[in-house]
Order: sequence, then C-alpha cells, then structure tokens
Amino acid sequence: MNDKQYLILRKNIIKYLKDRLGERLFLHSLGVEAAAVQIAAASANYRLIKRCSIAALMHDAAKCLSLSEMKSSVKKAGYKLSGGVAEKEGLLHGHASAHIAAEIFNISDRGVITAVRNHTLGRLKMSVLEKIIFISDYIEPGRNFAGIEELRSNVYRALFNSCLDRALLLVVRDKIRTLEAMGVSIEKILFDINDALSKTLEKRA
Ligand SMILES: [Fe+2]
Ligand SMILES: [Fe+2]
Repeated sequence: MNDKQYLILRKNIIKYLKDRLGERLFLHSLGVEAAAVQIAAASANYRLIKRCSIAALMHDAAKCLSLSEMKSSVKKAGYKLSGGVAEKEGLLHGHASAHIAAEIFNISDRGVITAVRNHTLGRLKMSVLEKIIFISDYIEPGRNFAGIEELRSNVYRALFNSCLDRALLLVVRDKIRTLEAMGVSIEKILFDINDALSKTLEKRA
C-alpha cells in the first residue's frame, strides 16, 4: 500500500464509519486510530504505522449490525468460531468487522484482518499489530474510567522503554480487574494471556 492508496483507503473508511456508526462509536474509532498511530510510532516502522491506522479504523466497523447480521457476515467469511463467541455481539463484532474490511474495502493484508478479528479478547502469541490494536482500544483518548490516566501514562512509559509486552500486560490486567469489578464472566483467554506475558517478562528480567 503506497501513501496515496493509504490516504484514499483511510478517507473511504472514515466516510463509511461516519455514515453508519453513532457519534460515540465513530469518535471511539478515531480515538483508537490516534492511539494506535502514537504507539506504532515507537516502532519506527512506517509501514506498521499505516497498517495500525487502517486496522484501528476498521476494528468496530460492524458494531452497528444486529447479531443476526454479524452471524451471516461471519458465515460468509467462513470464519470458524466457538459457540460462546458466535452468540454474543460483544465478541462477534471483531470477526464481522474483519469481513467488512476484506469484502467492502478489499483489504488483503492478513495481519490487519487478524488484528481486527482478535481485538476484543486477544489471543496467545499476538503479533505486534494485534498487541497495538488491543492496547489502543482500551486506552484511546475517549476512554474515561477510574484509573485511566495512570494506566495510560504507565502504558506510554513502558512503550518509551521499548516494552510492548509490558504495556500489553498492564492493559490485560486492568481489563480483568474491571470485568471482575463489574461481576461479569471473564473469558479464560484473558487469564491465559496474563500468565503467558507475566512468564515472558519474568524471564527477560
Ligand atoms: Fe470492539
Ligand atoms: Fe473498540
């Protein structure tokens, strides 16, 4: 994707989102893009910055769809999902957004598609792109919950020290803590990611 293609794609995605998402979700999408570009800049990898921008804009594109529309979108894409994921809009929308990215915007970059698909729960062995989108979704400038400012500054400090995994661990732990406080059931994968990252960082210390 050259710069001109990037700018045109970005403009088209923003128009698509503006026409379909409500104001709150539209601003959230722009906020995730802003955070993702800031974080990706720490990599000094220009191509990665552009890919993060596109994945961030796309990540919640399907959130305006009903559960049945999401299901049919995921079916068309041929994605195989566990029953738990397939029955909840909150878990399914990433996969439906990935289908929109591929079908409507002809995005063929597998890394971008995978990051959009996995942005809600994450997974073990995430790529750098996936990690950045996962973090950005949680700390984007529009997020406003108790402790966000401290979390955000800790995340940026970790990134400044070149530790994307530490930044990711901070976000995963905060997400688990928030979900626990809300009293909702937490997908096991989040605990698995927490354990795997803790071990990786311990080994590095
Ligand atoms: Fe989402
Ligand atoms: Fe989001």
